[in-house]
Amino acid sequence: RLPPWYLLLYKLLLPASQTCDPRLRRDAGGRGGVYEHLGGAPRRRKLYCATKYHLQIHPNGKINGTLEKNSVYSILEITAVDVGIVAIKGCFSGRYLAMNKRGRLYASETYNAECQFVERIHELGYNTYASRLYRTVPNGANAKRKASAERLWYVSINGKGRPRRGFKTRRTQKSSLFLPRVLDNKDHEMVQLFQTNAKYRESLLKPPNKNQRRRRGH
Ligand SMILES: *[C@@H]1O[C@H](CO)[C@@H](O)[C@H](O)[C@H]1NC(C)=O
Repeated sequence: RLPPWYLLLYKLLLPASQTCDPRLRRDAGGRGGVYEHLGGAPRRRKLYCATKYHLQIHPNGKINGTLEKNSVYSILEITAVDVGIVAIKGCFSGRYLAMNKRGRLYASETYNAECQFVERIHELGYNTYASRLYRTVPNGANAKRKASAERLWYVSINGKGRPRRGFKTRRTQKSSLFLPRVLDNKDHEMVQLFQTNAKYRESLLKPPNKNQRRRRGH
């Protein structure tokens, strides 16, 4: 018989590869705090920003917000990868929320250090998610001044549904506050369809058509 710690280790190493696995559907019903479920099954959640947008992780690598209540790209899997550290994966896009060294949010195809976020609980049930890797570090002479204290770079969706650059974010801004929400019936139906219907899956993940591909300024 395996010792319990062996099972914990096994679970820790597993989650990244198990997107939308039906066996993991029954995650805990709680709101999902920092110390819950370390090494357990991913929590399937939506992240509802205080600016009224749901965070979306798109297959094309883009991160933004939607006002829609049920959007496939807003269904996420949040996994504790260390104490207080989470990875946030788009259930449908299979990509991870990530922040690069310039403070830009993007959807990474692979899991790496830029995909790790410090999850903190704030008042009224809101959480913040700060890059584990990048932050504003006070430099030399200015370090003694309080104004240039170290600042974390937060995941943030502004009032237009667009991500803010990390260095422009503050813990107290609405755009940095997220309410982890459990899925509703409609969300569960979409997940079910995604898992069982190949055509539906393809329609969501196919490359954008010409019009969508055209960039601004062309
Ligand atoms: C979010 O990004 C998607 C994919 O690039 C795009 O189709 C959609 O219009 C964007 N929404 C907003 C509110 O910017």
